[in-house]
This record gives sequence, C-alpha cells and structure tokens, in this order.
Amino acid sequence: MGVRHLADQPAQSSALQPAALPGDSGGLFISFEGIDGAGKSTHITALADAFRQAGRAVTLTREPGGTALAEKLRQVVLNDAMDPLTESLLIFAARRDHVVNVIAPALARGDVLLCDRFTDASFAYQGGGRGFDLAVLSTLEAWVQACDDDAELPTQKLLQPHLTIWFDLPPEEAALRLADARMPDKFEAQPLAFFRRVAAGYAARLQREPHRFARIDASQAPDAVGRDIRQVLLARGWL
Ligand SMILES: Nc1ncnc2c1ncn2[C@@H]1O[C@H](COP(=O)(O)OP(=O)(O)OP(=O)(O)O)[C@@H](O)[C@H]1O
Ligand SMILES: [Mg+2]
Repeated sequence: MGVRHLADQPAQSSALQPAALPGDSGGLFISFEGIDGAGKSTHITALADAFRQAGRAVTLTREPGGTALAEKLRQVVLNDAMDPLTESLLIFAARRDHVVNVIAPALARGDVLLCDRFTDASFAYQGGGRGFDLAVLSTLEAWVQACDDDAELPTQKLLQPHLTIWFDLPPEEAALRLADARMPDKFEAQPLAFFRRVAAGYAARLQREPHRFARIDASQAPDAVGRDIRQVLLARGWL
C-alpha cells in the first residue's frame, strides 16, 4: 500500500484535491502536546523504551521536523519572523513531508509512532497563541492529513493520532522550568499571556475530541507524571 500522489489521481479528480494517504493499518500513533517546558521530551524516550520492552517496534519523531526537509523548515519557523499564514503554511508543508515519508510508512509497518507535537500544536500555537483563523487551519489539516481506507471512495477521513497525551501545566510553572534551561526560540520568548492562549487552544481541542485526548497533570513530580502516562496506556491495553 503506497501513498497516492497528485499525479496518481484519476483524471476526473480536481488538481485541487489533496493526495490521499492510506487508511488505518495496524500501527499506533501517539502524539505528545503541551506548552514549551511542560515535560514532553522528558517522558517520550522512556515511553519508547517501555514499548520496545513490550516487543513493539517504535518510531520516535517530532514536529515541526522529522525529515530532512521538515527539519530545515523547523529552523526557519522557530527563528524567523513571519506572518501567521506564512507560519502555518510552512508548518503544514513540513507536516505533509513528515506524514508522507515517516508517519504513514511507520503506521503501515505496524510501528508504535511517538510524535513530539502534531496538528493540535498548530491549533494551539497558531490558532490560540497567534489568534490565526481556525477555519484555515482546518482546511490545511484536511489537505495534509487526508487519508482513505478504500481508494475507490472519494470520501476521506483524517489521519489523526489514536491518542494525544496533553501535558497540562500552568504557563508560570513552565516558564520557571525553562528559565535556565536553554536559549529561548521565537515561541519560547513569548510572554505568559501567549502561553495562556496556547493552553486554551489545547483545551478547546480536547473538548472537541475528548476520546482522543488524555490530559496529564504535568505540574506533578516527574515520577508521578510518568506513572500517569503508563496508567493511560495500560488502561487501553497498549502496554
Ligand atoms: N515534572 C517535572 N517537574 C519539574 N521539572 C520538570 C518536570 N518535567 C520536566 N522538567 C524539567 O523542565 C524542563 C522542560 O522539560 P522538557 O524539555 O521535557 O519540556 P518540553 O515539553 O519537551 O518542552 P519543549 O516543548 O520546549 O520542547 C527540563 O529542564 C526538565 O528537566
Ligand atoms: Mg521538548
């Protein structure tokens, strides 16, 4: 099963239609979300080890990034000033490359795919933080993540994580954690009010799709956060 490209579309389909990805194929897609400093990177590697010990092949990746092209776009997006539409287009361009070349193939192989941020981050940062048009983000999401279980049918669904672990942490605490950690990038240098809007953006995504999300209280000590994450996966029978 391969990814279909625009050139492979039947003649009657408009060139404006997105190229569909293959549908569900046995892999497990888990994304990790939360404001900068919430603790995603601290836990994702340990979780990858836990899945490997459980006998699963794991692909560990991140956004923006995850491919050579998308990592180049990451550098631009995290460091250069630009308007919110340009920013969103570059992030979704990076996402398309990542989905086509890494995410869809890993899921087709049956891997556990652990992704440090995915599309919820675009709704939270560009939508919530920057106040950018959510309808435009939804259109980009539909274009980039269109997939189908049956190539004969025009109706498409979206490639989405099976589970999104949201590290919920008050922006004040995240700022304290990051204060001495590293040179802030374009987003990390934003004021607290920006991160409050980002957090509200995540909360809105959870409200729309409560079954996809697991909210973790990320203000706890690292051991307790790790225990809560394992509990979520054990409850689903995935570990
Ligand atoms: N539960 C915790 N309690 C206290 N400090 C923590 C906790 N989890 C992580 N930290 C520390 O907070 C800092 C940020 O953590 P981490 O890099 O995992 O966050 P992140 O969500 O990956 O951030 P970013 O989105 O910027 O990559 C690190 O210095 C880390 O050691
Ligand atoms: Mg991180």
